[in-house]
Amino acid sequence: MKKGRLVSLPSLREAARRNPDSVLPRQRAEIRPSAFLVSWGQEKLFCIRTYGCQANVRDSEILRLFLLQMGMKETEDILRADFVLFNTCAIRENAENHLFGELGRIKASVLSRRAFVAIGGCMMQEEKPVSTLLSRYPFVRLLFGTNNIERFYELLEQALREEDTYVDVRSQPQALVEYECEQEKGRLSPYSAFVDITYGCDNFCTYCIVPYTRGRERSRRKEDIVREVLALKERGYRQVTLLGQNVDSYGKDFHGPYAFADLLESVAQTGIDRIRFTTPYPSDFNAKVFSVMARYPNIMPSLHLPVQSGSDAILRRMNRRYTREEYLNVVRLLRSMIPDVFLTTDIIVGFPGETEKDFQDTLSLCEECQFDGAFTFLFSPRPGTPASRMEDTATDEEKHDRFERLKDRIDQLATKSASRTVSTTVPVLFEEVSKRDPSRISGYDEHGRLVHVTGDKSLLGTIRPVDILESHTYSLIGALHDEGPSF
Ligand code: 5AD
Ligand code: SF4
Repeated sequence: MKKGRLVSLPSLREAARRNPDSVLPRQRAEIRPSAFLVSWGQEKLFCIRTYGCQANVRDSEILRLFLLQMGMKETEDILRADFVLFNTCAIRENAENHLFGELGRIKASVLSRRAFVAIGGCMMQEEKPVSTLLSRYPFVRLLFGTNNIERFYELLEQALREEDTYVDVRSQPQALVEYECEQEKGRLSPYSAFVDITYGCDNFCTYCIVPYTRGRERSRRKEDIVREVLALKERGYRQVTLLGQNVDSYGKDFHGPYAFADLLESVAQTGIDRIRFTTPYPSDFNAKVFSVMARYPNIMPSLHLPVQSGSDAILRRMNRRYTREEYLNVVRLLRSMIPDVFLTTDIIVGFPGETEKDFQDTLSLCEECQFDGAFTFLFSPRPGTPASRMEDTATDEEKHDRFERLKDRIDQLATKSASRTVSTTVPVLFEEVSKRDPSRISGYDEHGRLVHVTGDKSLLGTIRPVDILESHTYSLIGALHDEGPSF
C-alpha cells in the first residue's frame, strides 16, 4: 500500500457503534477559504461527479459552494478540469467498479495536466475501496468521508501542502453543523431545493450499509429548517424536498413531543408552493402525517414508501419492523385519507433465502398496492452488513429472472397509472430546458411525474396548468392549458 498521510482510516466496526447518551456538538460555521486556497483556486476549473441518493446530491451542493468560494469555475468536461471531485455511493457493489472505471478513464489526462483528484462520500467510509485506492490509484490526492465535509477546506489545504495522498475519514459524526454561508450559490436548481432534516440512520436493515456510512441518526433543529425554507422562498424557490434516510424518525433524538408531522406542518405554514419529502419508513408512518398532508395543499400528494419485500419471512430477515399486512394497512389508510395519492416504492429482489413463493408474495403485494412506480434492485451483498453473511439459496439466473418479471409488472403498473392522466389538466412546475431541443421545456406535476411541453425558457420556475395529451411509462406529453395543443 502506498504510504500517504493517513490521518484517519475508515472502520465499519467503529461506525456501527451507537451511543445515544453522547451529545454531539452543534456548530454554526461560517465556512470561508483561506488566502492560500483562494490563490490556488484562481483560473482553475472544477468538475463534480455525484453518485447515489439525494443526500449525496445535497452534500455535493455544499462542496460545490466551497469550490466556487475559492474562485474556481465549474465545467462538465471532466478531462478539462483542474480539480475533480467524486462524491461516491456505497449502496451497491457496482458503484465501486464504476468509480474505478472512471478513474482509469481520466488517469492519463490527470497525470499530464497535474489535475487534483479528491474523493468523498459513502464509499470512503468503507475499508476496502479506500485500500484499493491507496494501492492502485496513487494519483488521487485526497480521500475524505461523509462525517467531515465541514472540514473540507482544512483537508484540502493539508493535501495541497503535502506531496502525498491525504486520507482523513471519520467513522463517527463529529458535529451537527449549520452552514452560515450563501448556500443558494451552491444549489443546482434556482427553483427546487433539497433541505436536510435528519442525517444518518439507526435502523440497521440487514442489507444496508447506510447506518455505517452515514452514522447515527441526528435531527436538525426545527428553527434551522424553517429558517432555511423561508430563506429559499424569499429567493424565489417554488419547491423544497425534505431529506432524511428516515424522515419519520425526525426529532426522536430530542426526546420531546415535536415529531415529523409537526415539522411538516411548520414547513407547510411557511407558504412555500410545493413540499415533498423522502424517505419515510412504513411502520413509523401514521394518520397524523397523512392528516397534515391532506390539510395542506402545498404538501404534494405523493409518497415514496419503500416496502423492500412482500414476504413476511424476508421482511423479518431484513430486520424491517413491519409485516406485509401492516404495510398494506398503512397503504389503505393513506388511500382513504388522500385518495389521489401517487404511491411509489423500493423493492429488493434476490435477498438471501428468497424463494419463488416469497417472490410471488412481492408480486401480489404490488397488485394489492397498485403502485404508480417503483425502484427495483437486485440484492447486492455489502461487506460488513449481516445480510452479506446470510446463506443464499437461489441461483443468479433465478434472481435475474425474478428481477425481469418484477420490472415488467412494475412497468405495466406505471404505464397504466400514467395513462389515467391523459385528458386531465395538471399544474406543472417547469424546471428544465431540453438539451437536445431548446423549444422543449420539462417540469413535474404535483405527483412528481415528468411532463414535457413545447415552450420557451420564460416558463422556467413558473407553475402552469398543462393539458396532458399523451402518456408514456415514465413521462407525459402535454400542452400549456392557455395556449392549446402544441404537439
Ligand atoms: N442491495 C440492493 N438494494 C439495496 N438497497 C439498499 N441496500 C441495498 C443492497 N445491499 C436499496 C433499498 C433502498 C434503496 C435506496 O436501495 O431498496 O430502499
Ligand atoms: Fe438503509 Fe434501512 Fe436505514 Fe433505509 S431505513 S437507510 S434501508 S438501514
